[in-house]
Amino acid sequence: MTRPRKTPDTLRSARWFAPDDLRSSGHRSRIMQMGYSPEEWLDRPIIAIINTWSDLNPCHAHFKQRVDDVKRGVLQAGGFPVELPAISLSESAVKPTTMLYRNLLAIETEELIRSHPIDGAVLMGGCDKTTPGLLMGATSANVPAIYVPAGPMLRGNWKGQVLGSGSDAWKFWDERRAGKLSQAEWIGIEGGIARSHGTCMTMGTASTMTAIAESIGMTLPGASSIPAADAGHIRMCSEAGRRIVSMVWEDLVPSCIQTRPAYENAIAVAMAMGCSTNAIIHLIAMARRAGNDIGLEDFDAASRHVPVIANIRPSGDTYLMEDFFYAGGLPGLMSRIGDKLHLDALTVTGRSLGDNIEGAQVYNDDVIRTQATALYKEGALAVLRGNIAPGGCVIKPSACDPRFFKHTGPALVFDDYPSMKEAVERDDLEVTADHVLILRNAGPQGGPGMPEWGMLPIPKKLVRQGVRDMLRMSDARMSGTSYGACILHVTPESYIGGPFALVRTGDLISVDIDRRSIHLDVPDDELARRQAEWVPPPPRFERGYGWMFTRHIRQANDGCDFDFLQTDFGAPIGEPNI
Ligand code: FES
Ligand code: MG
Repeated sequence: MTRPRKTPDTLRSARWFAPDDLRSSGHRSRIMQMGYSPEEWLDRPIIAIINTWSDLNPCHAHFKQRVDDVKRGVLQAGGFPVELPAISLSESAVKPTTMLYRNLLAIETEELIRSHPIDGAVLMGGCDKTTPGLLMGATSANVPAIYVPAGPMLRGNWKGQVLGSGSDAWKFWDERRAGKLSQAEWIGIEGGIARSHGTCMTMGTASTMTAIAESIGMTLPGASSIPAADAGHIRMCSEAGRRIVSMVWEDLVPSCIQTRPAYENAIAVAMAMGCSTNAIIHLIAMARRAGNDIGLEDFDAASRHVPVIANIRPSGDTYLMEDFFYAGGLPGLMSRIGDKLHLDALTVTGRSLGDNIEGAQVYNDDVIRTQATALYKEGALAVLRGNIAPGGCVIKPSACDPRFFKHTGPALVFDDYPSMKEAVERDDLEVTADHVLILRNAGPQGGPGMPEWGMLPIPKKLVRQGVRDMLRMSDARMSGTSYGACILHVTPESYIGGPFALVRTGDLISVDIDRRSIHLDVPDDELARRQAEWVPPPPRFERGYGWMFTRHIRQANDGCDFDFLQTDFGAPIGEPNI
């Protein structure tokens, strides 16, 4: 799709600044109030830098400086940069979960762009939900936009051991619960596992989502793999600033880039990376904002034919994002699955994905494998269905013990997180390694916000016996850095009365990953009887954002967007004209 080039008088911002009337005079006067002469901004693309920096977001700590690097690039290319801060969504600080606020960031991004005299946007994010939140908002606003990923932090280090975000925290926490680590050693781990600014450096949700941003064509080539602390990251920021100005003149809007083939590329890349399960929810929401009807089946189909070739924890057992960057990064990885990609998809460079990765190389064949030497021939994700999850649920086979690929066990049910947390520490808990641990009321409505509670802790008495994995099931999500036989995103969720609400302790549950099935072994008439007895929980929020959230949030298999935020919901809002 080619669109006519913009001229100064057709810039969106010209609606604010060009007319010879009192209102526009006021707009011009107030820019001059900030000390800018007309020749610095008039007739130039005005570029919003939507910055998710905050003092409580260590993953974005460097954005305070990087925003100046973006500005430098915008100025060099003849644009006028303006910084517009947006909610930061710090994964490590926000309770109960940042997922409660992804859509709030999406609304904020869309409205920041729509309400201001903005011709193009640089989106600065990286920590988990910031990537989908910023992209969803910019996609609905549909002005030219480029994504600047925060970049992964450096490898962790403790006593000479490499530590990976999240994954090693869970692993060593179990060692501590088993009595094998002192308090002093634990503090050493806390200090060593996150040693620089930047996002989690395992293949968690952050690295998954920034790779997805790159593979749908919304970042500069290679941008998502550059470590936050690398000087190349600074150069990428200024280049993004230069590029967005050209994108405005070219009128290269997200709807030209975010086509269905672009999303199919993103799904293939996510699979090859051994992605976080959260990718499913975010990609569905993002794709639908761009008018592409992506669903669970698209992920299951891709996982059957795209091998996992990125040897990064937690799917891999050794390497981290820093190693991935040195091995050739995302362009290197994409060059190895070129046959699974639509190489003609357009990107923010104005060129195709194929052009962008032309000449890309891999420098370490153990970190980025070939398809022939893949880590897993298939199975980054699997979508299961059955009477207990008619809308689907997901598991990450590549991160779980193969003994659970086919398993039947009795349910041990918990209705809330605190009672589960207390029970798993008890020595007298009646549980075996064959049990299926169940956590309910942890979905979009129940959590609320679908917290990352899905990797339920292994009961302490089993940990002491050496058990390190067991089948777990919830309507929650789990961190991309988590691992284990965890069945997630059960839809419909228990809080709204899905069949998952009807499971009782002792019921048998069977899982067969090859057949993509999950079954609750309880007769239909008994389930109907339990359904009739089920009492809905009281409403959770009576005011505020939560009130709006509960009325409009959609289920996991629909991407958890708000119904009214879907881009085609209702008449277009149109542009401000007074
Ligand atoms: Fe920010 Fe993991 S806590 S990316
Ligand atoms: Mg995370």
